Amino acid sequence: MKMLRRIATILLSSLFLFQFAACKNTEAATITTTAEWEGPDVITYTTADESGYDLWLRYAQISSTNYIKKAQHYIGYVVTPDASRQVIDSAYKELLRGLPGLYGIESIPTAEKIDKTGALILGTASDPTVAEIASANELSVTDKDGYLIKKVTVDGNDVTLILGESDSGVLYGTFKLLEILSTETDISDLNVSDAPKIQWRVLNQLDNWDGSIERGYSGKSIYDWTTLPKMNDTRIEDFARANASVGINTIVINNVNSSTNYIDTRYLNKVAAVAKVFGRYGIRLGISITFDAPSRLGKLSTNDPLNKDVIKWWEDKTAEIYEAIPNFAGYLVKADSEGRDGPSKYGRTHAEGANMFADVLAPYGGIIMWRAFVYGEAANKLSDDICNQGYEFFKPMDGEFKDNVILQCKNGPRDFLPREPVSPLFGGMKDTNMGIELQITQEYTGQDVNLCYLVSQWKYYLNFDLMLDDGAEGVPTTLSRILQGNVYSQANTLVAGVSNVGDCEAWNDGLLSQANWYGFGRLAWDPDLTEEEITETWVKMTFNTNEDVVNTISDILYGSWELYEAYTSPYSMGMTVKVDGHLDPDLSYRNGNGTISVNRFGVGNNRNSTSKGNRTDATVQYSPRLAALLNDIDTCPEELICWFHHVPSKRVMSNGKTLIDNIYEGLVGAPQAVKDMKTAISSLEGKIDDQRLRIMLKDFDEQYDHSVLWSETMIKFFEQQTKVECTVKSK
Ligand code: GCU
Repeated sequence: MKMLRRIATILLSSLFLFQFAACKNTEAATITTTAEWEGPDVITYTTADESGYDLWLRYAQISSTNYIKKAQHYIGYVVTPDASRQVIDSAYKELLRGLPGLYGIESIPTAEKIDKTGALILGTASDPTVAEIASANELSVTDKDGYLIKKVTVDGNDVTLILGESDSGVLYGTFKLLEILSTETDISDLNVSDAPKIQWRVLNQLDNWDGSIERGYSGKSIYDWTTLPKMNDTRIEDFARANASVGINTIVINNVNSSTNYIDTRYLNKVAAVAKVFGRYGIRLGISITFDAPSRLGKLSTNDPLNKDVIKWWEDKTAEIYEAIPNFAGYLVKADSEGRDGPSKYGRTHAEGANMFADVLAPYGGIIMWRAFVYGEAANKLSDDICNQGYEFFKPMDGEFKDNVILQCKNGPRDFLPREPVSPLFGGMKDTNMGIELQITQEYTGQDVNLCYLVSQWKYYLNFDLMLDDGAEGVPTTLSRILQGNVYSQANTLVAGVSNVGDCEAWNDGLLSQANWYGFGRLAWDPDLTEEEITETWVKMTFNTNEDVVNTISDILYGSWELYEAYTSPYSMGMTVKVDGHLDPDLSYRNGNGTISVNRFGVGNNRNSTSKGNRTDATVQYSPRLAALLNDIDTCPEELICWFHHVPSKRVMSNGKTLIDNIYEGLVGAPQAVKDMKTAISSLEGKIDDQRLRIMLKDFDEQYDHSVLWSETMIKFFEQQTKVECTVKSK
């Protein structure tokens, strides 16, 4: 219970001893004077035990008594909005849940209309009172799903307005206001506006019908298809809330290696029940389908996308789905990959396959998320280097996909490795909607055993300049700009992330991995947000605003990706994990297919077009400017050097040390670095709750053991292969 949170630290900001009377006014609309919140302050951080279930939506009591007084002055009661609009009703309920927690009071007063200072009013321009205030103050929001939060004066009363372009905009604005309060950001003159920069902000769950999750490390699926449509708890709703709070507007609920059950008439009512919950939070539901559903479900003799019976089957199925699920987003398709059926089997191109679905979905405003991950037979005729195949396969089809097809491409050309260059498809597909698929679940980045803050990795990719000639002199053609449709125009923009959510108590097995889920949503909304903006907000909302807490946890997160990289795959050398499970080290298989190549001549793969001997010419898939940079070992960015070059072990790197010594230093130092993270977390004892502190300490113990395993295995391997002894000593 939030009311029972024990007081951990009390810091007096004034020399006067000030007795804090716990802020439990039921009369929260009581007007305080300015002087009151400018007087002596009491800072109290809540440290009662928590499981992590509440994520960043804890709404724990604000630490500063003065801030509470001020907040209660400006936002002391909520004007009841139009409850018949379910998304707005969700926003309202979130305020009724959040504000009392933040203020440390039983409940927040509500009113039918503005009658005194301190009103919070929310709605769109279609709500008469809201429209009146907006027009009197010349306010409007025009960007799709955008919002404005502004302090205005109505008949002499201070009023906070949340004006949304749409109902979803109102909900996003509400979550933003709760964030502002939770992070104790100044509210004296509130004037905040924002709108998503990406249209489709998608969470991809890899959940299976039987409750298991492919590449899931946080328990089982949150969907129990045996009991649905009945829901025994609020987990699905809380999942939707959490996603909406970071701006996610689409959730694909099942594995790309799909089963037909999700579109089977017998079970559609179950899927519809989930969609209904999502709908209350402005979220559309998507389904991964199998390309061969017409033959498997409909008993047709073919799945040829140009066959009229097949088209009719999909038309009927889609109509049936929209009937049951009006907020259906569309289909996600993995075709011709890893043994799955696809257009190639019927002599059709992927553009032909995707466009058939596009036509079927278009009347409903649906989209087709077509994956650019084609591994297997269809790609076998292409380059031997698996990293070249995506581009070779799809580039010839550029311009052939319809407007409601989005080609969903993994960030790199291989498969979510600790670091890869950005996939060349993002620069090459000028006339195709290109969406990105990021991996929130840590398949190749340590799973539930290693902390790896992926926001750092994603920012690296988003800031990556593909050096295209887009005519805008001097403006880098970053992946972020491409995804926003600012380099090539796109009818639809999309950022998708493979979910790390399961049914374990804290949703994510590694407590700090919640930051990856949060950060993904924030970046899908605005890929230009900085790592610091995201991280600090997350820490403040998830733990508290104490400076030591914010700095310590942020620093741990910031260093964790590069640390993981240092002991598993430094310098983008490729895939070093076991085929089975993708967690532990396995250096026995090395065939150049994105795996590693280490010998007495050096480390890395010659994926450039200048080396003598064996090379795979991957650089030709990039713009000439970028290719030239990557081809030259002296200008290739160091962090990617082993991806594109077989680098002599004794090459002197920019820090004056040899490549191999740098690698050894990273490997030798890793276990100590993990210990240091644990020590840093221990220093927060008393400043955060014991329960979550204990979970994190245990997580670091596990990571320590794993880093020792990696470090020892890798050092042995490098010594054997390069014939250079490791002389680096641990500190
Ligand atoms: C990887 C992953 C698979 C997944 C596939 C995909 O290969 O290991 O589990 O199905 O990517 O993204 O389709």
